[in-house]
Amino acid sequence: MKISSFPCMACIQPALLFCLVGLAQQPKPYHNTLPKDITVYHAAVVSANPLATAVGLRILKEGGNAVDAAIAVQLTLAVVYPEAGNIGGGGFTVIHLNSGKNYTIDYREEAPGKAYRDMFLDKQGNADPHLSQDGHLACGVPGTVAGLFAAYKFASLPFRELIEPAIHLARNGFAISAEEAKMLNDTRSDFLKLNTIRPVFVRHIPWKAGDTLIQKDLAHTLELIRDNGSAGFYGGETAKRIVKEMIRGGGMISSKDLLEYAVKWRNPLSFDYKKYVVLTMPLPSSGGIMLEQMLGMLSAYQVGKMGFETPQSVQLMTEIERRCYADRAKFLGDPDFVKVPVKTLVSPEYLRQRMLNYSPGKATPSKDIQAGKINPESEETTQVSVLDSSGNAVSLTYTLNGLYGSRVVVGGAGFLLNNEMDDFSAKPGSPNMFGLVGAEADAIAPHKRMLSSMTPTILLRKNHPFLIVGTPGGATIITSVFQSIVDLLDFHLSLFDAVNKPKFHEQWLPDLIYIEKGFPLQTRKALEKMGYRFKVREAIGRTEAIEVLPDGKIRAVADHRGDDSALGY
Ligand code: DON
Repeated sequence: MKISSFPCMACIQPALLFCLVGLAQQPKPYHNTLPKDITVYHAAVVSANPLATAVGLRILKEGGNAVDAAIAVQLTLAVVYPEAGNIGGGGFTVIHLNSGKNYTIDYREEAPGKAYRDMFLDKQGNADPHLSQDGHLACGVPGTVAGLFAAYKFASLPFRELIEPAIHLARNGFAISAEEAKMLNDTRSDFLKLNTIRPVFVRHIPWKAGDTLIQKDLAHTLELIRDNGSAGFYGGETAKRIVKEMIRGGGMISSKDLLEYAVKWRNPLSFDYKKYVVLTMPLPSSGGIMLEQMLGMLSAYQVGKMGFETPQSVQLMTEIERRCYADRAKFLGDPDFVKVPVKTLVSPEYLRQRMLNYSPGKATPSKDIQAGKINPESEETTQVSVLDSSGNAVSLTYTLNGLYGSRVVVGGAGFLLNNEMDDFSAKPGSPNMFGLVGAEADAIAPHKRMLSSMTPTILLRKNHPFLIVGTPGGATIITSVFQSIVDLLDFHLSLFDAVNKPKFHEQWLPDLIYIEKGFPLQTRKALEKMGYRFKVREAIGRTEAIEVLPDGKIRAVADHRGDDSALGY
């Protein structure tokens, strides 16, 4: 991996010169560039925000490893990317160390101890999305800070150095982008309605690009974490503030919930696809197991020969996606609470059976597809991608769920809380905010973790990182990761195209293929003749990917769909 004989990338890419600074120097909050597609020699980092990416690069250059960089990027995103970066949410991290060892950390939020199965039903017994999505009751017990400290065991720099850039940006402010300004303005009335204390995200005049966002309360909370570790969040002043916020706003998280929260080290989900080992997240994310199902079903066909986004390949991949989402709705949930037939769901025979009613040239309506038949098993149960110069790799996805989560800012503590409770199935068959339906397996129970679609993934070739990939996008996460891998390995697209070409998405219900603008019209028309219905929607995902090229160089691509940026050296 290490290619130290090549010239320093700064000579080749002048836009990166500003990053050649020591850790003592603070991030430049008003000047940043937005490189989206770079080829470098040693290490790379891709994230949703240029300031966070720059912090990651600096950590890498100062001798930090991929885990150091990932932690610093996550903490910076919590400041500069408040709609999804967070300390009040949760997520999953997949780590490959150059020793050959792999780890996955589950720091998903969990239901508060007082949560109960029907807590989001109205008097008529219908699921009320406002209850599960807006405000205090929607908040799960946050996991991010515990996740950061769990990953820290593989880090090499003092934690203080990893958190300092975030504190600096929170205390002194940074210039917001046009996209951020628009989202803050669009969410203004929610912030006003759902908070008990007016947060800094609301001001008397609309935000515009270049305005400075200062978050002093958040800076203070980050200092408490810097000085007290995880206890600076789950105990002491911050925990008291969270509980007070819950009491003021009618939420459920208690000090006991916070004190008892712990990450879960899961066995990494690992399987082969072509010449690669795919390393990804097991349950309670549905992403890994569904990626294994999708690639497993696909490998029975020669999709590469069908061509990229032709009617044949899109039909095949759509029908695969449809069947996997039907399985998700019935079988998948937190494995510590429900028995999930994982072995069967990914077995070649089961996957073959699932495709028996696939008819090339003709749509299978979703009403004709149910979850597969399973015999009981005896036993079973906003993306950051980093690669360092020693071959350590991190792929992580963490979230507040919806845009700015519950939109509740903890009074005096300055951070947003998630609305992850909406990822539970409030009522069998009632769609969540991503249109996903679920059943008993994902019903609410105290301390249970809600099913996720987040799919942070690393592909290894001969036990060395080949691809580090992941994306946000709710239900579409799994299909985006699936398609990025297939685009690269079967259609031989460049990484740039695999990330940026229009994507499509089918999730069983509703019976529609969602497409992005730019999806080939001819393909759409051909599929409509076969009985498929389409809906054009906003961006599908924001994929951040790093690929190790055959000559050992590193290509890093940030999605063109947002302010995402890629840096490296
Ligand atoms: O865990 C999940 O699957 C969702 N809470 C992810 C939310 C998400 O990706 C929002 N971004 N668009």
